[in-house]
Amino acid sequence: MAYPPYPFYASHGEGARLTDLDGNVYLDLINNYTSLIHGHGHARTAEAARAGLIAGQALGTPTVEEAELARELRRRLPALETVRFTSTGSEALQYAIRVARAATGRKRVLKFEGAYHGSEVSLVQDIWPRTALPPGTARPALPSSAGLDDTSTLTAVYNDAAAVASAFGQWGDEIAVVVVEPFLGNNALITATPDFLDAVFEQARAHGALVLFDEIQGLRAAYGGTQSVFGVTPDLVTVGKILSGGFALAGFGGRSDVMAHLADTGDPMPQSGTFTASPIALRAGLAALSDFGEEDYSRLRTLRDGFAARSVEEFARAGMTVHINGMGSMFHININEEPVGSVAQHLRSDHALWIAVRLGLLNRGINMMLRGTGCLSTPMKESDIDIYGDALRDVLSGI
Ligand SMILES: Cc1ncc(COP(=O)(O)O)c(C=O)c1O
Repeated sequence: MAYPPYPFYASHGEGARLTDLDGNVYLDLINNYTSLIHGHGHARTAEAARAGLIAGQALGTPTVEEAELARELRRRLPALETVRFTSTGSEALQYAIRVARAATGRKRVLKFEGAYHGSEVSLVQDIWPRTALPPGTARPALPSSAGLDDTSTLTAVYNDAAAVASAFGQWGDEIAVVVVEPFLGNNALITATPDFLDAVFEQARAHGALVLFDEIQGLRAAYGGTQSVFGVTPDLVTVGKILSGGFALAGFGGRSDVMAHLADTGDPMPQSGTFTASPIALRAGLAALSDFGEEDYSRLRTLRDGFAARSVEEFARAGMTVHINGMGSMFHININEEPVGSVAQHLRSDHALWIAVRLGLLNRGINMMLRGTGCLSTPMKESDIDIYGDALRDVLSGI
């Protein structure tokens, strides 16, 4: 957790607030990078985790909670016919890709420029590009940092149906799975357009590839995940973040015939992990999710609109145009004259100005992401919009 100019060291959190070692209190609009839907110290989650500790911290055999949380997830996302748990989202993606390869007998993965799927090696590619790919194109992926080998991954332009067609036109019979982030969680919350998703599903179906929806942040956006908003049924799904009440737990799943490659085939694909399906995390996750129903999603969406509107208002007062992206309980401020619906447009936003604004907000008790995203939690109230808006006004008046 290191980032410029330097992070503050936290002492504790309570509800929507974080306190640092010097006793400064912040409105927490990060929420552990979207994983805390109830903020800090949610009573029912804490009680459930405590009960888990008392029952024994790691039991080395399945627990009832494993089936209960899987059932709760399937109620929300019917595409999850079969569910497996992992400790992190990155691990969930790793297994989902392997099972897709086992099911199709193919190797290549198609991902999108600007999409973040954690640290799985075949997906740490083309996440934060310096220049955007030309429209309508796809090419073999470029590792995003030193220390990574080339992979069989392909990268195409996000929100670009022609780029999807180009990838399948060139490598159609080699692609095992298309990995789709329904909104670019690390790049301006750019949200998938319906024609782009149509192209993904049509091309994948036509060429015998699977579609994997990475709902690791999407579970926070809608009760049934973003797939319920878009009206699509992916073959594979990864889930994480809010499903665990703040503990290390994620999952993957999907079509039973595809997931069967983990167990029922002559050459089964093994899944292992010492801390997989931690009973404490499962209990905490069940408690957190059971306290987050349709009406809570709707309340947070309304609150999000309030934060977004106040952001636009304060930047306009300072003579600047911003466009807000967002889904569910998250909003992203783009300091940009035009709306941001592509990575190319995102690269034209004024990131240097945002970094200065963010630091100003931090010094006034507002904790927001370096990348420009704000993430809400259920303890937040209407009055927090004013606290945020007044701080933003003060920062912008000095710029
Ligand atoms: C969309 C998405 N996929 C995967 C991951 C990786 O999850 P984890 O950090 O639990 O490995 C993240 C984490 O931020 C994410 O946002």
